[in-house]
Amino acid sequence: MDWVFIKDVKHYDEKEVTLKGWVYNKRSSGKIWFLIMRDGTGIIQGVVLKNEVSEEVFNKKDELTQESSIVVRGLIHADKRSPGGYEIVVKDIEIVQIADEYPIALKEHGVEFLMDNRHLWLRSRKQWAILRIRHTVYHAISDYLNMNGFYRFDSPLLTPNACEGTTTLFKVPYFDLGNAYLSQSGQLYLEAGIMSLGRVYDFGPVFRAEKSKTRKHLTEFWMMDAEAAFIEHDDNLKIQEELIRFVINAVLEKNLSDLEVLERDVEQLKKADAPFKRMTHKETVEFLRSKGSEITEKDDLGAKDEVLLTEDSDVPIFVEKWPKEVKAFYMKRDKDNPDLVLGADLIAPEGFGEIIGGSQREDDHDLLYKRMVDENMPLEDYQWFLDLRKYGSVPHSGFGVGLERLVQWMSGTKHIREVIPFARTIYRLKP
Ligand code: 4AD
Ligand code: MG
Repeated sequence: MDWVFIKDVKHYDEKEVTLKGWVYNKRSSGKIWFLIMRDGTGIIQGVVLKNEVSEEVFNKKDELTQESSIVVRGLIHADKRSPGGYEIVVKDIEIVQIADEYPIALKEHGVEFLMDNRHLWLRSRKQWAILRIRHTVYHAISDYLNMNGFYRFDSPLLTPNACEGTTTLFKVPYFDLGNAYLSQSGQLYLEAGIMSLGRVYDFGPVFRAEKSKTRKHLTEFWMMDAEAAFIEHDDNLKIQEELIRFVINAVLEKNLSDLEVLERDVEQLKKADAPFKRMTHKETVEFLRSKGSEITEKDDLGAKDEVLLTEDSDVPIFVEKWPKEVKAFYMKRDKDNPDLVLGADLIAPEGFGEIIGGSQREDDHDLLYKRMVDENMPLEDYQWFLDLRKYGSVPHSGFGVGLERLVQWMSGTKHIREVIPFARTIYRLKP
């Protein structure tokens, strides 16, 4: 007999199969009882009929507890009434292990309790749905890049210096060489990579000692940095828009049932698959002030500003051309106004905030050097980065997508801690 995954039972109508998984729930009514089981790929209802199985198998209903691990044999049977359209008429149940009393019953719990039991909470239906969406988003991003000439280029996580400013660095003692720092973004290394491969990306964990207590900040999160030679500001935005729309379509294609479990408004996602808006930082400030924000022309957007900006927009908005004081040292100056840089942040609709930060990079050695001196940066640590502007420098651009921010938006999840298997925040290092 074949072991099959629940997601594939539709190919086995009226055939006998073996399913392996866990007890999700059970219900009983006299001569028949129902075993709801899950196996990681799906959930199915098993029907156990007194007349069809041995007494021993029928009586297992008293023994089985929530989350007990089981191997079930039976006949797959199409049934419109059952969720998923198929059920299994049980012939035999083999118990692998009887679970202790499960701390997460099928009812509401406080979030701290759930986070303390994250290793178990992961099995709950909503968490399972979110993890499946995360899987889709991760692969859609990689697929888009692989199809568009980007090579995967793995940047180091232990680094001697900062990419995104020194205030959020995690320090690690490093043998006789002093301190290393956990990477905040692989971007600087990718800028070396493009001079070899043309277009590159990395995709992995990055670290920020963020003291933020918001629902959008983690101290360890996943970032995809992409970088491309001979790509300037406008084309940089085009690539980002295409990538994000590709991801939206992948989620709509692969995760409709998960979006349903999460009660995600799918129409809202469909509407976002349309041309994105573009506003300069200056226009954004004017718009926000007209809506009551106190932001000034020299300010970064606050969390509330991000919500105000997109609350009436169905599509994400690029905020471009920022005052140079607000942005990182590597961004290229706008030739029309040297006080501005060619950076753009992509702000998601529905209050999900910034999902991408990117820019055209300063490719002129002397301008970059001057900016680094002005910012008192330790030049000896960045000599290699300046070198890239000496040996065949080219205009180039790139951007970084926060995986969890994007999954939060796709899945409609309020708090970022639920979209990564084991969240790390200033308050939490366990489990
Ligand atoms: O805007 P950021 O800081 O940009 C960079 O690091 C660039 N070096 C990327 C590049 O150009 N290659 O970070 C990029 C994205 C943000 O837009 C946001 O989505 C996410 O990373 N992000 C966070 N996600 C979760 N928790 C945090 N603490 C985050 N900080 C940034
Ligand atoms: Mg940013």
